[in-house]
Amino acid sequence: MALAVTSSSTAISGSSFSRSGASSDPKALQICSLRLSDRTHVATFSQRLHSMKPLNAESQSWVARASILIAPEVEEKENDVEDFEQLAKNLEDASPLEIMDKALEKFGDEIAIAFSGAEDVALIEYARLTGKPFRVFSLDTGRLNPETYRLFDAVEKQYGIRIEYMFPDAVEVQALVRNKGLFSFYEDGHQECCRVRKVRPLRRALKGLKAWITGQRKDQSPGTRSEIPIVQVDPVFEGLDGGVGSLVKWNPLANVEGVDVWNFLRTMDVPVNALHAQGYVSIGCEPCTRPVLPGQHEREGRWWWEDAKAKECGLHKGNIKEENGATDLTPAIVQDIFESNNVVSLSRGGIENLLKLDNRKEPWLVVLYAPWCPFCQAMEASYVELAEKLAVKGVKVAKFRADGDQKEFAKQELQLGSFPTILLFPKSAPRAIKYPSENRDVDSLMSFVNLLR
Ligand code: ADX
Ligand code: SF4
Repeated sequence: MALAVTSSSTAISGSSFSRSGASSDPKALQICSLRLSDRTHVATFSQRLHSMKPLNAESQSWVARASILIAPEVEEKENDVEDFEQLAKNLEDASPLEIMDKALEKFGDEIAIAFSGAEDVALIEYARLTGKPFRVFSLDTGRLNPETYRLFDAVEKQYGIRIEYMFPDAVEVQALVRNKGLFSFYEDGHQECCRVRKVRPLRRALKGLKAWITGQRKDQSPGTRSEIPIVQVDPVFEGLDGGVGSLVKWNPLANVEGVDVWNFLRTMDVPVNALHAQGYVSIGCEPCTRPVLPGQHEREGRWWWEDAKAKECGLHKGNIKEENGATDLTPAIVQDIFESNNVVSLSRGGIENLLKLDNRKEPWLVVLYAPWCPFCQAMEASYVELAEKLAVKGVKVAKFRADGDQKEFAKQELQLGSFPTILLFPKSAPRAIKYPSENRDVDSLMSFVNLLR
C-alpha cells in the first residue's frame, strides 16, 4: 500500500479540527502542527499524525524499487472495489440513518461530511442521530450567498461543531480574477472558476481523508445523478493513502426524494438556508444560482446559461457518463496544466531527442500527462513548485502531453502505463527511470531526482 507523506506544497500549519460528540476539551481537539494545503490559507483541515509515515522510509522503499525499473501500475489498496459494490447492494434499502451509521462506524475520524450549506444539513442531523462523533467540511468559494454563511453559523451553534472550511488558493483566484474579471464564467463556462474555487480545495480536503459523505440524490439531476450508488470507491479523487481506489464516497441520501428530505428537515426542526423560502432549491454560489419556478427542475437554477451535460462543477464529475456507459472524466473545456516558465513543454521531436542521447548536458525530469486526468491535476501544484526548486540545481523539468495521438508512442517508447507517468532521464544513463511511487509530493520527487540524477 502507498505510504502517506505530507506534501510541502500542500500545507498550512496549526491544524485543529472539531468533532461533534467528541471530547469538549480543546486540547483533545488539537491534533498536531501539520502543514496543510496551501500556505496562503487560513483554513484548517486535519490529518491524523499516526497515519503519516516518515518521508525517508518512503524514499528507501522507492529507491530500491526504482533500481528494478519495473513497477506495478496500480498498487494494491485497502478499498476493494468489489467489497463496496456489494456493500452498496446490501444497503440499497437501508435508511439514511443506517447508512450514515455504517459509514461513521467504518471510517471513524477519517471520514467527513461535505456540507454545501443547503438541504444537505440533513446529513448533519443524521450524523447527530447516530450518536457517533463526526466531522463536517465545507468549500467556501468566496462567492456564496450571505444566507449560506448565516446557515453555516447557525449549524455550528446548533450542533456544537466547527465546520472545517476549505478556501481556494489566494494566488490562483487572484490570477483568474485579474486576467478574466469577476464573472468570466458567464462567457467561457464555469469549469475554470469551479476548478480554482471548488475542485482544488476539495482535492486538498480529500487528501486528508479515507472517505467522504455527500448529499447527492438520484432525483437531483436525472442527466448525471440517476445512478449514484449508496457507496462507491471514488472514481475521481484520491484519499489519504494516495492513488486510485484510496477514497470511498458515501451518498446516504441517494435513494431519498427531495420532498422526503424536506419533510425530515421540517420534522426535526433543523436550521435551513433562508434562500429556500425565496424559491431557491439547489443552492451553490451566488452568481451561479437562481430560484426556480414551480414545476421547473431544481437543477435549472444552477449555471442556467449552460447546457445540461456540463451541470456538474467537478465535485461529482464521476457521475457524468459517456454514451457507451463509461465514466467521462474529460472536462467540457480542457485547459492545459503545468503552466510555468520552469516547465518546458516538449514536442514529440523534443522527447525523441531526449531518448536518443546517451550523455545529456543535464538531467531531465519529464511528466507524461493528460490535462483532463484528475491525478495529473492533483500533482500540478507540486510539480510546478518542484520545477522552481530544480531550476537552480541545473535539472530540466518538462512535460509531454501523451494522450490522443501520442498515447501509443508513449506506451511503446516511454513506459507509459497510466497518467501521470514521471520519467527521469539521468545525465549519463541512457535509459529513463520511471518514478515508481504514487506519492507525487515535492519532497518525494525531489529525493528521487537527487538520488538518481
Ligand atoms: S454541485 O457539484 O452541483 O455543486 P450540489 O450543490 O448538487 O453539488 O451538492 C451535492 C453535494 O455535493 C452536497 O450535498 C455536498 O455534499 C457536496 N457539495 C456541494 N457543494 C459543496 C460545498 N461548497 N462544500 C462542501 N460540499 C459541497
Ligand atoms: Fe465560480 Fe460559479 Fe463555480 Fe462558484 S459555482 S466556483 S462562482 S463558477
